This record gives sequence, structure tokens and C-alpha cells, in this order.
Amino acid sequence: MKQAIVIFGSTGNLMFKKLIPALDRLLNQERLDPDARIYCVARRDWTFDDYVEHAKEEVDKQVDWTRLTARMTYIKLDIDCQNDYDQLQDTMAKDGIDDAMVYLAVPPQLFPAIAKGVSQAGIVTKGDEHARIVFEKPFGEDLASAKEINRDLWQYFDESQIYRIDHYLGKEMIQNILIVRFANKIFEDSWNHDTIEDVYIIAKEEEGVMTRGGYYDEIGALKDMLQSHLLQMASLVAMEKPDTYSSEDIKNEKVKVFQDIKIRPKDVILGQYDGYLDAVKVAADSTTETFVFAEASINNDRWKGVPFYFLTGKKLDEKRSEIIVNFKNDNGARSLWPDTYKPKNQLIIKVAPDDGVKFQFNVKEPGLSDNIVPAELDYCHSCHSLENTPEAYEKLLLDLINKNRTLFTRWDEIESTWRIVEQLKEKLDKPHTYSSYAQMKQLISTRFGEDFDDL
Ligand code: BG6
Repeated sequence: MKQAIVIFGSTGNLMFKKLIPALDRLLNQERLDPDARIYCVARRDWTFDDYVEHAKEEVDKQVDWTRLTARMTYIKLDIDCQNDYDQLQDTMAKDGIDDAMVYLAVPPQLFPAIAKGVSQAGIVTKGDEHARIVFEKPFGEDLASAKEINRDLWQYFDESQIYRIDHYLGKEMIQNILIVRFANKIFEDSWNHDTIEDVYIIAKEEEGVMTRGGYYDEIGALKDMLQSHLLQMASLVAMEKPDTYSSEDIKNEKVKVFQDIKIRPKDVILGQYDGYLDAVKVAADSTTETFVFAEASINNDRWKGVPFYFLTGKKLDEKRSEIIVNFKNDNGARSLWPDTYKPKNQLIIKVAPDDGVKFQFNVKEPGLSDNIVPAELDYCHSCHSLENTPEAYEKLLLDLINKNRTLFTRWDEIESTWRIVEQLKEKLDKPHTYSSYAQMKQLISTRFGEDFDDL
């Protein structure tokens, strides 16, 4: 079979920052078919050389351009012109392609037109097991538009041909959450409201929106990060043990968590970084949020009374994605050391930029005193890998090639996460402008009456 990856949105940020480096790594490891083709589709009237020249300026990772460009073709396509899709199909047929993956790295409003075009041109035909179509998040702009897109897609493709990406699921430590939980009795036995105080799900970024203002201003942090990445992380932390480790059983349990999650509008704080309004393609009076803090509850027996705190934002003090599980400290031992016992057990699942697991526990201070001090067990995941640990998009592209659907989201996951965000719609206060993370943190502490030291 001759493989092709057809990427719509090939002049966009995602292509240059994530997909090209991931494809280069896959080529380097000889994971792509020896004569696989990469069709870079976009609307600009460029020659192949123009495209490559532009790509070289935009890609900031080291890639082997000679090897990569030997596989690439640039295709100019107007997404509303059926003839352009037919020509793309002719080109692919001439190249002898019979295993096609169509990747939509474009905003959700463009999904229906492209789905129709590739379907009518026969690039992805309903029921053809060798053709599949991939959608980037966000899937829709709200629940209604997501449903509409989905209805359209089911008209053109079988569910088994549809892959919905949430790239956080491709990250090594996200795939590790269930192992850390269920393969360690010590954690699983205490993974509930009796023992756990609260959980933080954090994805902080230092960068602003850069050149993505056009997309971002329509979406905002709630839909860009919380509806997808943060809720996905929370579901893996909170779900019940699946019947088997199969993709479907895991997804069934995740969906139950999504159905039980509630966020009250009054427990959400939004922010917008100072300078956002000057970003390219951002409306001068935009009220789009670039920061979200939210307290959620999960209304089931396991998590009764345990707050889940979500925090994400751009232009913050650091790039850090992690999950923090704080254990309760009312274990009765305080009476043994009334003066020095400051118990804190904490499990941190580090997702990025470091990846690993850190566990904090208490020991006697070295020396003659009986003071109790915290100690850490710190596991670095990538340090134990013989090769480079795979980047999220590399893993997901490979799964796509191998038709492995485990790390892609199912429709009911998307539907139920939209419902969570939907409950907040139009009930939130306008974002606070922040020029430093400290300002937002102060605001959160004042509102919730807690210090939130770990944030
Ligand atoms: C994307 C969002 O899905 O995730 C971006 O659209 C965000 O706005 C990015 O910057 C963060 O991903 P990562 O892998 O860099 O944490």
C-alpha cells in the first residue's frame, strides 16, 4: 500500500511547530512507508519552493529538509472549489496512493466544507478502511456546532474513519496516569475522598497567542484548553477502574466522569493578558479570556467533597503542565509530634516540560533533633528511556498510520465536555487584565480565601 498524509492548513502554526518536526522524527526512525507522500494543502498561491522557503523560516526545530522535502508536494486548494479537490485526488491517484490520511489542521468552521470536498472527490470514501480523516481540536465552537459538524461527518464517513485529536493524550505522562493509579495498590487504595484533599490540573504557558490571534480570539482559553486538555487529564485522574484496558472501556469510564463534573460560574475566574489586544487579528475591544481558573466538583461517591482546581493561561510565569494530588493530613499522628508535625503527602504527575512523578512524604530531619521534614521521591520518565521519548504528535501520527484509535477522542467525550463548558456560557464575568501571573494568583487567593502555594 502506498501511504499519503494530506494536511489541510499546511501554512499554519500547527504544521510548522508540531507536525513537520513530528513527521521528520518519524522519517528518521523509518516509521513512515519508504515511499509515503506528504501533501501540504493550503489556499496560498505558492510554488513548492515558496512553500519550503517559508517553512524553513517558521520551523524552529532541527529537521532534515532534504529528506523531508523529497516526500512533500504543495497543493494550492480553495476549500469551496470542488474542482480543486478533484485535482488533488487525480494527483494522488497518479502517485499511486491507496492509503490516505487526511488531516484537518484548520479551525472547526472549515471542517464541514473540507469533509464534503474530500468525500465527493473520493479522497476519503465512506466505509473505505484505508482512508481516514483527522480533526484537530476544538471540535466545534460550542455544543450545537459540534453536533452539527458531527452529523455532517457521519453523513460522509463511518465513525471508524474519524479521528478527533487531543494532543495531550499523546503525551507520555498522560498515558502514564492510569498505570500510576491502577498498577500501584498504594495509590489506588487511597484514591478517594477519604484520603485526598484536592487535585490541581495545571497547564501554564509563558508564550502569548503569537500569530494565532485570528483563531484564538474566537475561541479563548476555556474552549482552547479546558474543554479539551484539562478535562481529559481530570477524567484520567478521576475515572473508575475500567473493565479492561481497552480503548472503549477506558472511554466509557471517562465519559461517566465528564457527566459528573460540575463547574459553577461563580467558581471561575477569567483573565486576559495585558498586550493581548495588540496581537495580530485580535479585535481591539476583545473580551476573550487567555486565563482560566476554575473549581470543579465531581458528583460521585469517590470524589464527594474533593475540589478539582483547573488553571491554564498564556503569558504566565512559566511553562508547566502537571497534575497535583494533595493528600489529607488528618491521620491522627499529629498528637505524637504536636510541635513539629506538618504532614503533607503530595503526588505530582509532571507532564511538561519535565516528565515524571514526584512523591512528597515526611522523614525525620537528619541529625540530633526529632524534627519532621518533607522528603521527595522524584522519578524522571525521559531519563529512563533508551531513545528520545516520543513527542505527542509523533505518537499520534504513528497511531493514525497504524489505525490505532486508543488515544483519539470519541464523540460522546466531546459532547459531554462541551456540556460542561456550555453550563458556563454567558454567565461569567469579563476577564481581569493581568500583566503578571502574580496578579491573577492574588485574585484567586482573595476570592477563594486560600494561598494555593502549589499553583
Ligand atoms: C493547543 C492550544 O491545543 O495546546 C494552544 O491550541 C496551546 O493554545 C497548546 O498553546 C499547548 O500545548 P503544549 O503541548 O505546548 O502544552
